Amino acid sequence: MSPQTNLVLLGSTGSIGVQTLDVVARLCKVGRPFRVVALAAGRNSRLLAEQIESARPEVVSLADERAAEDVRRRFPGLRVLAGEDGLVALASLDEVDVVVNAVVGAAGLPATLAALARGRTLALANKESLVTGGDLVRDALGAGGGRILPIDSEHSALLQCLDAGRRADVDRLVLTASGGPFLDLGRADRATATARDALRHPTWSMGKRITIDSATLVNKAFEVIEAHYLFDVPYERIDAVIHPASILHSLVQFSDGSLIAQAAAHDMRIPIQYALTYPERVSTGLPQLDLARVGRLEFRPVDREAFPAFGTVLAAAHAGGTATAAVNAADEVLVARFLEGEIPFGGLDRGLEATLAAWARERADGDVPATLDSIRSTDHWARAFASGLTL
Ligand SMILES: NC(=O)c1ccc[n+]([C@@H]2O[C@H](COP(=O)([O-])OP(=O)(O)OC[C@H]3O[C@@H](n4cnc5c(N)ncnc54)[C@H](OP(=O)(O)O)[C@@H]3O)[C@@H](O)[C@H]2O)c1
Repeated sequence: MSPQTNLVLLGSTGSIGVQTLDVVARLCKVGRPFRVVALAAGRNSRLLAEQIESARPEVVSLADERAAEDVRRRFPGLRVLAGEDGLVALASLDEVDVVVNAVVGAAGLPATLAALARGRTLALANKESLVTGGDLVRDALGAGGGRILPIDSEHSALLQCLDAGRRADVDRLVLTASGGPFLDLGRADRATATARDALRHPTWSMGKRITIDSATLVNKAFEVIEAHYLFDVPYERIDAVIHPASILHSLVQFSDGSLIAQAAAHDMRIPIQYALTYPERVSTGLPQLDLARVGRLEFRPVDREAFPAFGTVLAAAHAGGTATAAVNAADEVLVARFLEGEIPFGGLDRGLEATLAAWARERADGDVPATLDSIRSTDHWARAFASGLTL
């Protein structure tokens, strides 16, 4: 029997959070015991209550104070925290081995920094931590002595491919992208697509925001930023390629021209489990890939004209400073407005471009360095700006 792993799960009620609890249950069954010390959610007190019944955490936190009150009423003996401070408190708990950050959005950054400051192993799904505060995360990692294990399938793949050679011999990282539901739609048809169309992802079942971000390729550009910070590779040596079947999750090209790829079934529980057992591999009955049934593998370049938001996010990455925090915050607002039926799908591309242009004008005299405070104020500014845009 392996020693028990003490785990904190942030974002437990989401797509990754629910799958993480499934993986934990599978690992426990095969003699890899986990103790769920703490759970955090946004506002879904009903699902969190079910998770409390089965996982028996010592402490929980909800972003929403009313939802926290609801949980306090249902579980009078349980410690229930609330708001951003509650989330950060959970990420900073003592005697924790792994913090899984599966919160969606910029709200995940302070918890990432707190977990790394305490030297924890951080199993990271919240890519926005690296998109909005990559330099801060890198500093916290260096200062705290912890480590980050990616949960995103592409970055889990890169981690595995990088093990095939020496870092000095890495030529390029190649991220694969399914291309989302509108890959073969003309730009005009895509511009008027509805939320229902955009939520129908061809290969993955995920939370709403990342599903819409996959349809605009914003998600893929976020993943380029994520790869840059996770693996310390310059942007010029990170490519994205469309691979509609999502069988190869990413590749590393070495200096001799060899491309090493990782393939697996489309099931996020596989990279989640790898982050929890790294570097070991454990058989827990997750789906296996049958290559004979996969048939042909297709690859195409990213059409930057058809998916302009991909270039906008990468332009923000190259601008550096708080530009990516601005673009991320605007995207969170624009995706919510699109899902509400307030703006058309094409408005997502236009809104991001307008936000980046406004960010550049605002900072014509030079950007402020990216600190948690400047990231927060840029985030607030970009949310207000994107909320007011007529698209
Ligand atoms: N889903 C995937 O397959 C996938 C794959 C790769 C990477 N990711 C990344 O993983 C992260 C989570 O994605 P997801 O698809 O699981 O999202 P999701 O289904 O929307 O779940 C998000 C989780 O975050 C919680 N949350 C929202 N705002 C919060 C706040 N202010 N404080 C604390 N918790 C908050 C939500 O709580 P409530 O529901 O209770 O409000 C929920 O538990 C994202 O960064 C995404 O890009 C996801």
